[in-house]
Amino acid sequence: MEQTFGRVLVIVPTYNERENLPKIVERVRASVPEAHVLVADDNSPDGTGQVADELAAADDHVRVLHRPGKQGLGAAYIAGFRWGLAEGYDILVEMDADGSHQPEELPRLLQAVSDGADLAIGSRYVSGGKVVNWPASRQFLSRGANAYTRVMLGMPVRDATAGFRAYRASTLEKIGLDGVESQGYCFQVDLTLRTARHGLRVAEVPITFVERTVGASKMSRSVITEALWRVTVWGVSGLPHRLRRPR
Ligand code: GDD
Ligand code: MN
Repeated sequence: MEQTFGRVLVIVPTYNERENLPKIVERVRASVPEAHVLVADDNSPDGTGQVADELAAADDHVRVLHRPGKQGLGAAYIAGFRWGLAEGYDILVEMDADGSHQPEELPRLLQAVSDGADLAIGSRYVSGGKVVNWPASRQFLSRGANAYTRVMLGMPVRDATAGFRAYRASTLEKIGLDGVESQGYCFQVDLTLRTARHGLRVAEVPITFVERTVGASKMSRSVITEALWRVTVWGVSGLPHRLRRPR
């Protein structure tokens, strides 16, 4: 059955993913043929940007945003969102390059947006969601980050740090990207919070997150530190708001 979700842009941020990129692009193109792919590369030393250019030369559904250097996942996504909004896409998708987010599950995220969600999150921590091949230490970090986020921010979202998402274009326009300062992975929490505080509809769709088999994670101490202090600041600054409107 032919499905149509409008104009869909799948943004794939990359930093040293030359071995992973061709495979993920191929899987996206097979899973949702009408979607366009935008690779947002931070001038990867391993030449991922050149691999992306080769993919773009061979396929008119693939485009590349070359960025000057490593500025963080959040900054890459903001640049990608700006590009996609200017080009008139209806749905903007976030997806990792390393295969952790399975393109075969993307239609279910797109369907959730079609069904009315302003943001569909591919969630590991709702019923039916899974994580495959993560060490206990990383599971603990991710669960802990989500628990802390839930307590501090009072959002009912189970997986606010998830990086596999579909945004309705109007959601990004409403929340505005100009004030977003998050550079690293806390960008995910930041935009979830902005979406929720605007009273927009967040849906969580169960996914299976599969840890990468090739290359290395870019998670670092500075990524964790930024997330911790920002979530704390957002939580404390949002307290008056929460006290006025108890859940
Ligand atoms: N352009 C750019 N710049 N891309 C980046 C950067 C950066 O500074 N840092 C990471 N990336 C890209 C990677 O190349 C990959 O495609 C994607 O962002 C995810 O990076 P990973 O390093 O593989 O993340 P992870 O597996 O540790 O973390 C996953 O889980 C996090 C927490 O649940 C991701 O899905 C995160 O988005 C998520 O927040
Ligand atoms: Mn990864």
